[in-house]
Amino acid sequence: MRTIDWVDDAVEIIDQTALPDRTTVLRLSTVDEVIAAIQSLAVRGAPAIGVAGALGVALAARLHADDGSALADAIGRLRAARPTAVNLARGVDRAAARIPDGAPAVLAEAVALLDEEQTAATAMARLGADLLGELCPPQPRLLTHCNTGALATVAGGTALGVVAELHRRGALGAVIASETRPLLQGARLTAWELTRLGVDFRVAVDGAGPFLMARGLIDAVIVGADRICANGDTINKIGTYAHALGAHRAGLPFVVVAPESTVDRDTAAGTDVEIEDRGSAEVVGFAGTRSTPAGTEAVNPAFDVTPADLVTVVVTDRRVIRLDRGERI
Ligand code: MRU
Repeated sequence: MRTIDWVDDAVEIIDQTALPDRTTVLRLSTVDEVIAAIQSLAVRGAPAIGVAGALGVALAARLHADDGSALADAIGRLRAARPTAVNLARGVDRAAARIPDGAPAVLAEAVALLDEEQTAATAMARLGADLLGELCPPQPRLLTHCNTGALATVAGGTALGVVAELHRRGALGAVIASETRPLLQGARLTAWELTRLGVDFRVAVDGAGPFLMARGLIDAVIVGADRICANGDTINKIGTYAHALGAHRAGLPFVVVAPESTVDRDTAAGTDVEIEDRGSAEVVGFAGTRSTPAGTEAVNPAFDVTPADLVTVVVTDRRVIRLDRGERI
């Protein structure tokens, strides 16, 4: 299943804001629609927004073939739709580099990225599943955060792709999906994907993770990334850092799974990365219902930085990088 694709001259996505209640396909045929989908998290997850950005450039190249300034404006707005995951700017830049060759070449580049992300997911799943076999006891009990499955990529996934591969091998013990406040990517989306995969799982509130680890109920934490810096600092969904601290304290492996398209050697460290601030509304209530006193303000960083020294290993589609043994990104 591809969760984002180019179909009949438009971008098609599964609308992730409607899950798990409704599985709706959205057709995006303008740049503004692509930007709105990225910003509302109708399409989300680092590789998926990279592909969405590239396909958005393909749309822009067709729509503004005779207007260089409108095209440049569209590309700039796509690139800036969300700041933290390196994949978005990369996907946009990669497709935009083909503009001199014409709109069909831009589309071909975007579709090549789409295909590459799907291939990368398969490779990561295998490498990651092999690795967990080495790092963990048989039938490991895993905790994962946010949504890192097919919805966040094109197909398969990053960390959740590894979980699915272990399940296919009959080598998975249990899965805890932390709910991932405020937008519940874990409770809504990971739970939806695990249900479809037939994987036995439970959800837990985000704060339960370190306690479950301390109680010996988890064998490893496995997460994705939105950007991995040159020094190994890993930017991922808010709440990841707390799980990494819990894993460190409990002596558990903390495994990051991400394609090479998420590795950013041009950014030295996590302190150099802009962390998206998504504003109060997502935190003071949910789905239109206020859960705090009227007038309450919130702080809402969408991501956090897990320092490299808390990361045991990074698995990409090409490499297994043992940060705990001094290997370098
Ligand atoms: O704000 P989101 O839902 O786009 O954040 C997504 C994450 O943080 C994922 O964990 C990350 O993109 C890696 S999954 C491919």
